[in-house]
Amino acid sequence: MRITLSVIKADIGGFVGHSSIHPDLVSTAQEMLEQARRRGTLIDYKVLACGDDLQLVMTHTRGEDNPEVHQLAFEVFKAGTAVAKRLKLYGAGQDILSDAFSGNIRGMGPGLAEMEMEERPSEPVIVFMADKTSAGAWNLPLYKMFADPFNTAGLVIAESLHRGFAFEIQDVKAHKKITLNAPAEIYDMLMFMGAPSRYAVKRVFNRATGEIAAVSSTERLAEIAGRYVGKDDPVLVVRCQGNFPAVGEVLEPFAHPFIVEGWMRGSHHGPLMPTSFRDATPSRFDGPPRVIAAGFQLAEGHLVGPRDLFDDPAFDLARQEANLLANMLRRHGPFEPHRLPLEEMEYTTMAGIMRRLGDRWEPL
Ligand code: F6R
Ligand code: MG
Ligand code: MG
Repeated sequence: MRITLSVIKADIGGFVGHSSIHPDLVSTAQEMLEQARRRGTLIDYKVLACGDDLQLVMTHTRGEDNPEVHQLAFEVFKAGTAVAKRLKLYGAGQDILSDAFSGNIRGMGPGLAEMEMEERPSEPVIVFMADKTSAGAWNLPLYKMFADPFNTAGLVIAESLHRGFAFEIQDVKAHKKITLNAPAEIYDMLMFMGAPSRYAVKRVFNRATGEIAAVSSTERLAEIAGRYVGKDDPVLVVRCQGNFPAVGEVLEPFAHPFIVEGWMRGSHHGPLMPTSFRDATPSRFDGPPRVIAAGFQLAEGHLVGPRDLFDDPAFDLARQEANLLANMLRRHGPFEPHRLPLEEMEYTTMAGIMRRLGDRWEPL
């Protein structure tokens, strides 16, 4: 059976500030998606939240980029925005850049990761959702899952993974893409993937079978809007087991926190902390950035789950390390490398300061 898994998310208002989602936004989305399920637009859905982002996880048989499904998500975000405005939640409608739907939600503000697949006899998938960071945050964990034998034992010892994976990498600034193969081209690949503010992995494929293994959201809101409107707070869908890394290999890259862009005002480096759904409420200096992992078994398109996969003491040490790294970086205050390089900052007063002080700069 061909199933499409569509994850569409947006920040349509935070509670309190940018730290989490108000339950009324979740219930509004649930009611609307339930109606869509009854109408037959969707097979199933789950509404989740990570920080101040509302996450719609939906299954159907309509394929990727389906106008009906995209419009449904858009209507949910509009209705949620109305609720957020009534409650005067913070930044109501923040990610909705346009009022009129024109057939596809891509480029309108919300983030999306969609994957059409032939549902296997058993189809374990993990939906990762992050807050206070950007799309390139998935580059490092995706490399580890699909190209690093020190992370994924299956690359060495499982026939089904041994030919490696192909990575589709997007240049989010020049709007171009390239597909590179692991393991043959890993050194070329890392040149790009190691610069996550510019290059982000969009899709990964099993090279032996051609099957889609992973898809991420790579929208950069700041690029779309031409001004700061929030970090992308990206999502990632990964298929597991069989021809793909095992659930444990897919989760393993998060056992140590790594440093990502985002955090306060989208303008700082900070550790990505894996947490339970309940703890995905970034409130220390609006962070540190969070990631949650929702595990599902698909059953004829039904979403059996979610299991809260980071709600596991095995990730306690990662959380502790993230807190230590957060302390170390915070001590730098407004200094790099805690603060992002000038050209990467989402907020900046630099132009104004230069205008004011321009003529006080003298030649050396
Ligand atoms: C980062 C984020 C927050 C805000 C910060 C300031 O992605 O959402 O850290 O940037 O709280 O928000 P404003 O400018 O809305 O007061
Ligand atoms: Mg927000
Ligand atoms: Mg957010």
